[in-house]
Amino acid sequence: MNTNISETDFKFVCDFTSQNSAIVINDSKRYLVETRLEPVARNNGYETLSDFVQALRSQGKSGNLSEETIDALTTNETYFFRDFHPFNALKKFVIPELIERNKATKSLSIWSAACSSGQEAYSIAMMLRDSFPVLNDWKIKIMGTDLSPTVLEKARKGRYNQIEVNRGLPASMLVKYFQKDGLEWVIKDDLKANTEFRAMNLIEPWPIMQPFDIIMIRNVLIYFDVEVKRTILKKMASCLRNTGYLFLGTSESASSIEDSWNDITLDKTVAYTKSTFPKPDSAGLN
Ligand SMILES: C[S@@+](CC[C@H](N)C(=O)[O-])C[C@H]1O[C@@H](n2cnc3c(N)ncnc32)[C@H](O)[C@@H]1O
Repeated sequence: MNTNISETDFKFVCDFTSQNSAIVINDSKRYLVETRLEPVARNNGYETLSDFVQALRSQGKSGNLSEETIDALTTNETYFFRDFHPFNALKKFVIPELIERNKATKSLSIWSAACSSGQEAYSIAMMLRDSFPVLNDWKIKIMGTDLSPTVLEKARKGRYNQIEVNRGLPASMLVKYFQKDGLEWVIKDDLKANTEFRAMNLIEPWPIMQPFDIIMIRNVLIYFDVEVKRTILKKMASCLRNTGYLFLGTSESASSIEDSWNDITLDKTVAYTKSTFPKPDSAGLN
């Protein structure tokens, strides 16, 4: 197959991706577009990338090639306990505080937005089980959402290969919370029961979201331009309880973009609280 993409087709794919996912692809990513779209084109029976892009152009957003194209162009890099410090901050500060605040309702709700294949959601579920036995009779809901159907399917299965479980996951947790199936490791059902994975495109209208105690939206805003980041961060504020916490990726910031948010340093990480709600001054949080 001729995998070189013309200037016009490359520009079309970049605009199409940006309009449908907000992911900004710059000129240096031409090679990435070619290598990721080549198998999609081939699997759909197109002889050249040019024929494939022509079909995408005439089908538009509602055609079956649209979802596959966006899916192929998302970067789904993730791993268990990614960056470590946010999980440490949850364990040391945020969860103990929320246990105190929510003890009447005995419920805790967490949103892992742009969750990729689910490692973040399962990391939180394992940390809660491991460190907070008091939560055993609480209603714990960890919702993972993503735009890509491929990664959501994997997240729902909770099935990971050896390389994936070697990335970030302590051996003790592998033994406790996974069962081996052939060459793969599968999250045990009782842990899976705390999670739910749903399709959600952050730039399309959002369904009504219950207010969450914690929102993690990490390593996705970097792909968006500043206006899209601002809109998403504003909407996030209305999905978080007044007493809740927002976590972003290490290279991302909420307070510098959108004034709904105050930053708060929790040991070696930064989290965000709603600016309409005063910063907590208990438990050494400041
Ligand atoms: C690099 S991964 C980050 C995964 C995880 N949050 C982490 O930090 O490890 C980025 C994820 O964002 C998702 N994504 C990209 N654009 C999106 C959009 N418009 N709406 C929802 N998810 C999106 C991709 O499918 C991908 O799984």
